[in-house]
Amino acid sequence: MEFDVIVIGAGASGLMCAATAGYRGKSVLVLEHTKKIGRKILMSGGGRCNFTNLHNSVENFISHNPHFCRSALSRYRVSDFVELVERHGVEYHEKTLGQLFCNESSKEILRLLMTECEWAGVQIQTETTIERLVATDNGYQLVTSSGAMSARSVVIATGGLSIPNGGATPFAYHIAEQFGLKIYPTSAALVPFTLQAELKEHLNPLSGVSHAVTVSCNGMTFKENMLFTHRGLSGPAMLQISSYWRPGDAISVNFFPEEDLLTLLKVQREEKPKADIVTVMASHMSKRMAQILCELFGCSGRMADQSNADLAKVAEAFTCWQVKPSGTEGYRTAEVTIGGIDTDEINQKTMEAKLAPGLYFIGECLDVTGHLGGHNFQWAWASGFAAGQAV
Ligand code: FDA
Repeated sequence: MEFDVIVIGAGASGLMCAATAGYRGKSVLVLEHTKKIGRKILMSGGGRCNFTNLHNSVENFISHNPHFCRSALSRYRVSDFVELVERHGVEYHEKTLGQLFCNESSKEILRLLMTECEWAGVQIQTETTIERLVATDNGYQLVTSSGAMSARSVVIATGGLSIPNGGATPFAYHIAEQFGLKIYPTSAALVPFTLQAELKEHLNPLSGVSHAVTVSCNGMTFKENMLFTHRGLSGPAMLQISSYWRPGDAISVNFFPEEDLLTLLKVQREEKPKADIVTVMASHMSKRMAQILCELFGCSGRMADQSNADLAKVAEAFTCWQVKPSGTEGYRTAEVTIGGIDTDEINQKTMEAKLAPGLYFIGECLDVTGHLGGHNFQWAWASGFAAGQAV
């Protein structure tokens, strides 16, 4: 079987690339090794797919070359995907911070991509594994579980390592290595933190409680909700900062992102001298949370008995909690993989490997990792479109 283009991986970037190439009149085959295509699209955004973000810009991406993604993002914009969504009659809403979600289900985004592929004449073949990929004089030859195939261009769109039981494989990195491309070390990102046993046990009664915080690590700060879980710390704030955290680092949490806590405590000492400090804190958060955190931070006693120095310590504890996670939940629950194929090896306009003409890499396998909130899908659409235009 011979095609103009073979795309390996029927996920977000692969389907976008295939449809784009198909519309240009190319014969396109998409190979997927699992039974189901677009699994991560289906599980995304809690089943409603946060498909893009109105505030998307290069600042929302982590990469050793922060400028690499600029070209593709500027040629396939947020408004282009929104226009596609509207054209397919998918209803959506802005949830918060520019994040666009389907009103109904992420199935609608997958259906949209499948329809686009169908209209563009793309063939999709599931349950096919690729055993070998070799360069030939006029393209590439693939040895697969359903026989030999060849194509002028091959696009690697097999994603990163997160959710291994959902079909993730290191295929893209192995192919990159085979063709001599450099790869940065990878790790799980947008992932919940785990805590040491003693701290986890102390915070266990707060499991399920969410609170608005600012969280900082390695020069980056996010203001979002954090969630206590029975394993540790999660919620958008923690997922975001996990992309900047390295093992051994402490993260700093401010439970009062909007207030000057020390001034507030001094005022409350005047107004409620007989009140216990736990009661005062409980007027700003749930009672249980105030109790557990006051215990953790060693804050107790009546307000009248607190010196200025005591109140400064309380304020410091609640606005600058230094917590050292024991680790993360890893690829098992991570939304994305940070690191990956060095973008210096890739043409930023076409996604073609500089060392291997006709071989393209798109989506999450590249060293381009978006913030939480629809940015990773926007990268998948934009890089898929860029390669689809070039193959
Ligand atoms: P993607 O993972 O989509 O596709 C890769 C495809 O290749 C898969 O179908 C896989 O089975 C296949 N494959 C792998 N190895 C293969 C091999 N050897 N041979 C053949 N096929 C192979 N992002 C966002 O912007 N908004 C959101 O709401 C969410 N939510 C979210 C929730 C959860 C639970 C996860 C895990 C992730 C998200 N994400 C997200 C991230 C987003 O899903 C991710 O960034 C994109 O799907 C990446 O697109 P790719 O096309 O690169 O890989």
